[in-house]
Amino acid sequence: MSHSLVTMSYIVAAILFILSLSGLSNQESSRKGNYYGMLGMAIAIIATTFNVSSSAFAILLAAIAIGGSIGARAALKVAMTQMPELVAIMHSLVGMAAVLVGFANFMDSSINVSGVEKTIHELEIYIGILIGAITFSGSVIAFGKLSEKISGKPMLLPARHWLNLGLLIAVIVLGGLFLQQTESGAGSLPLLDHGGALPLLLMTLLALAFGVHMVMAIGGADMPVVVSMLNSYSGWAAAATGFMLSNDLLIVTGALVGSSGAILSYIMCHAMNRNFISVIAGGFGTASGADAAVVEGEVQPINADEAASLLMEAKNIMIIPGYGMAVAQAQHTVYEITKLLREKGKKVGFGIHPVAGRMPGHMNVLLAEAKVPYDIVYEMDEINDDFPHVDVSIVIGANDIVNPSALDDPNSPIAGMPVLECWKGETTIVLKRSMASGYAGVGNPLFVLENTRMLFGDANTTMQAVLKALQA
Ligand code: TAP
Repeated sequence: MSHSLVTMSYIVAAILFILSLSGLSNQESSRKGNYYGMLGMAIAIIATTFNVSSSAFAILLAAIAIGGSIGARAALKVAMTQMPELVAIMHSLVGMAAVLVGFANFMDSSINVSGVEKTIHELEIYIGILIGAITFSGSVIAFGKLSEKISGKPMLLPARHWLNLGLLIAVIVLGGLFLQQTESGAGSLPLLDHGGALPLLLMTLLALAFGVHMVMAIGGADMPVVVSMLNSYSGWAAAATGFMLSNDLLIVTGALVGSSGAILSYIMCHAMNRNFISVIAGGFGTASGADAAVVEGEVQPINADEAASLLMEAKNIMIIPGYGMAVAQAQHTVYEITKLLREKGKKVGFGIHPVAGRMPGHMNVLLAEAKVPYDIVYEMDEINDDFPHVDVSIVIGANDIVNPSALDDPNSPIAGMPVLECWKGETTIVLKRSMASGYAGVGNPLFVLENTRMLFGDANTTMQAVLKALQA
């Protein structure tokens, strides 16, 4: 493939990635956004594949076949609720790739640069490996926390901020040593024969330790922000790899992922009323002992028939989905009920909390899958003031996002997080299987309020029973 054709393909792919991001910013255009992204990536891969020497071509094809089939298998197998874990582990691979490319570049004796160019090249390697190693180990820990293989509780080491500061200073000092010790064109193997290898290796170990420490210190309730922050890091790691490989498309794509991930982290922080620095500093979302999960008061359980009659009497209904709807895969039944209620002349809306479920936009994806029309799906800010006019709110497998203690109890681990204030409506029906707490491990006083009714059971089974009762 000629050089200009490759450049042209890269420009087209970059434009498609930008169109993809703008498509993804809106539910109606998100499907189109995905197609643009897929097309852009296909063009990028084809152009890159045909741009390598014939000896590397076979290796590249084999790598694509192996990587592609592992990726396809993982994506086909993963349940929707495990998506954040898959995303976290993918981020870790981007980080690892940046580290490996960095070391390969460092050892490549065919790269012969001098003067300022040499310094820039070495800085690219150093920074690329730094960001890559932090992304790698941080994402592995995030994967562990999201899949509950590691406790969601923040691990807070004494003097941890000093420890982080110490690590930062060490990375800067090692960077200085690295730049001093490298000699261009040094022998090829082993690694330690290369000038600067020792500070580079030490920095890699420190960066790996920093990634672990950073994410271990972050509490369960802040995980949404961490996932999007690591998404941003993986973008910067890819951009750094692009600099090392002098690949413009990788630089552009990395920068797009890096900046969109940073914007998403900001939006998440804003939605949870948290500031970014305190998220990174860690410690939020710690259940303060077992007591935090216990609420006192009387629960008023109802059955599906009673829930159906409450709905029949209501005029204005708000549905609040949460993680449990995803677990139960109840979205299709929920939409059947919505259609029926709307046919009966009732106003039905969906209230979506920005961190409902386990990933950004989790509920929107499920509702879109069930073909719920977009114009009855509202964001929290759009409808939170309307609850006093709501007759019945149905909370389907949600917990933390409707917890009044976030607003009333300054000692609550989730104090300050905005929540959907459904208790201000006339009646709230909560669907869940037990009195268990949600992701943040906090008790929820909503369940014992006078105007709350609990409908216990798997959300899909109970919703089907309610549908049957409504049809009768
Ligand atoms: P949660 O607070 O986790 O509550 C979900 C509830 O669903 C649980 O209390 C559970 O109660 C119930 N449930 C589980 N399976 C069910 C089933 N089959 N049928 C019926 N109910 C079921 O969820 P939420 O209200 O959506 O809040 C989200 C939480 O996750 C927040 O704390 C948020 O910070 C965190 N988080 C969010 C993200 C993003 S980006 N959205 C990422 C990571 C973490 P039972 O066990 O009693 O049924």
